[in-house]
Amino acid sequence: MGIEYRIPTDADWPAVVRADGRAFGEVPTDEQIAERRSTVDLDRFRIAVDGTQIVGVAGSFAFDVTLPGGATAPAAGLTWVGVNATHRRRGIVTELMRLVHQDADERGEPIAMLFASEGGIYDRFGYGIASTMRFVEIDRTTAGFRPGLPVDRDAVRFVEGDDARDHLAAIWERHRRSRAGEISRDAAWHDMVHQLRERPASGSSATFHLAHRDGYAAYRIRDKWTGRPANTLELVEFVPVTAQAHLDLWHTILGVDLVVTVASRNLPSDEALPMLLTDVRPFATTVSKDGFWSNVLDPAVAFGARTYGTADRLVVEVEGVRWAVESDGDEASCRRVRARPDLVTDRPSLGALLFGGVRPSDLARGRRLEGRTDEALRRADAFFVVGPAPHCATWF
Ligand SMILES: CC(C)(COP(=O)(O)OP(=O)(O)OC[C@H]1O[C@@H](n2cnc3c(N)ncnc32)[C@H](O)[C@@H]1OP(=O)(O)O)[C@@H](O)C(=O)NCCC(=O)NCCS
Repeated sequence: MGIEYRIPTDADWPAVVRADGRAFGEVPTDEQIAERRSTVDLDRFRIAVDGTQIVGVAGSFAFDVTLPGGATAPAAGLTWVGVNATHRRRGIVTELMRLVHQDADERGEPIAMLFASEGGIYDRFGYGIASTMRFVEIDRTTAGFRPGLPVDRDAVRFVEGDDARDHLAAIWERHRRSRAGEISRDAAWHDMVHQLRERPASGSSATFHLAHRDGYAAYRIRDKWTGRPANTLELVEFVPVTAQAHLDLWHTILGVDLVVTVASRNLPSDEALPMLLTDVRPFATTVSKDGFWSNVLDPAVAFGARTYGTADRLVVEVEGVRWAVESDGDEASCRRVRARPDLVTDRPSLGALLFGGVRPSDLARGRRLEGRTDEALRRADAFFVVGPAPHCATWF
């Protein structure tokens, strides 16, 4: 019998979670099955069914994603992508991706984005690496701030319970518009995250929340006592909206006693903490890897909504279609043209270029993009790359 592809119903939900759990090596509890329902819109999901068993799942969340310059655009955040070991490599995820992309298209979402479990899966589906993220370990015993920094020692307070949830939600709304790649979080999302953080996880404490008027940090403590204190502070989230909040929050975090190591798996590539320290080496980047991946479903809308580093016009050819991306330094547009291309590239690289964190000349050296001339490449670097570095702090 063939595989049936369809939208899951509410009655399918427990089996959907269990099928996805099988793909990721997790057996969900009844509580987890119930909890996860609140953030999911089943109309955005597709399942593959063999007889009576769900063997594949893929879906998307509806987000607003921030583009360079601060405008936002609707994005489909692909998620829950999994095919059971019994049915892998038969084209099931290929069909599920097609259906989820078709759904995003029909909803008028110009961008799809995701985090990849493995780096070899998504290029074939049109996704390029839009951000680089880092895992860091900071040796708190040797990390010291440069003298004379204007730290406000009264600016940071612990908050708990609903106060923490509400402070995080309010700050998030400001922060997410300040960096390309960050996405909206709705009330159900904030509630779910808060609930999860209120509990201990994998041997670490429940979450502590540090509030600043212009930011927050959330961390767990992994307790270790080797005859002397050797705790690890696991920085779950670090969200400063201003440079002052960035300084004040780091100052508090590096001041948490009994901690030897501060660890984060979720910092942007342009994190500035090393520059605040007397010695940069206590701040070690242990992993620098692909962050979020992006697939441009509608170039005209997506590239027309962002800002650019210079006033210029560049024609980019992708899959035989030419797009003129133009900016007068303020307003931008992107439209189909016939003109000779300045750059020829592939669809994944277009996704990387959209968020402003990847230099066209680097793509050229990686043989993913060709510039008509060296001058075209120089102009493209100045045009497409604008700071701050893109980052998506919300894993989904
Ligand atoms: C990754 C996964 C979804 C692939 O599903 P699948 O149904 O086996 O994929 P398909 O059969 O549609 O494969 C399509 C193509 O992608 C390739 N591919 C699939 N998974 C791949 C992987 N992990 N790495 C590299 N290539 C992969 C296939 O070889 C195939 O290539 P081909 O067209 O050249 O033959 C499945 O293996 C899985 O569930 N893995 C565990 C959970 C997971 O990592 N999910 C992704 C979360 S981001």
